[in-house]
Amino acid sequence: MTIADDLKASVRAIRDYPKPGIIFRDITTLLGDARAFRRAVDQLVQPWAGSKIDKVAGIEARGFILGGAVAHQVSAGFVPIRKKGKLPHTTVRIAYSLEYGLDEMEMHADAVKPGERVILIDDLIATGGTAEGAVKLLRQIGAEVVAACFIIDLPDLGGAAKLRAMDVPVRTLMEFD
Ligand code: PRP
Ligand code: ADE
Repeated sequence: MTIADDLKASVRAIRDYPKPGIIFRDITTLLGDARAFRRAVDQLVQPWAGSKIDKVAGIEARGFILGGAVAHQVSAGFVPIRKKGKLPHTTVRIAYSLEYGLDEMEMHADAVKPGERVILIDDLIATGGTAEGAVKLLRQIGAEVVAACFIIDLPDLGGAAKLRAMDVPVRTLMEFD
């Protein structure tokens, strides 16, 4: 098994969760495997090792786990992008759609200074609705979105292509149909 196969094998598939017809890609098994977790974090930001990154923005909830580890790795600050109503200070907010529903997300309006270089992190990109909303929020407050990094891409749902069309470099570590 190659390292990439090994990492892919550490992701668990759950049928019909959270809705019938969805195959849920569960990364808790990857996170619980020390070697797989370390490899995933190292590989996510490997192209930007040594370049100046001011902030890592993580999308609630699974993007927090990865984003915190990545921020430590690249010596950057961490910015949470949260579901609506969770952040205490002044926020910017956007509505978005995802593979199985609709929601709204927020970030603190002062979380990133204009011109700061930001890497966006989440566990998975499917339709790209969530990541597209996050990029719009970051750009609204003046961030330079250097890249968006995900462990898992579901390419049939078109999310990575949608982000690239917004001029965001996209890095993913594995694909599922
Ligand atoms: C999942 C995943 C991404 C998003 C991807 O999060 O962690 O954030 O869906 O879907 P999209 O590309 O179609 O927008 P979810 O909204 O399930 O939230 P959770 O991390 O809180 O479970
Ligand atoms: N978010 C959107 N689609 C998903 C899927 N199939 N598995 C896990 N998280 C997801």
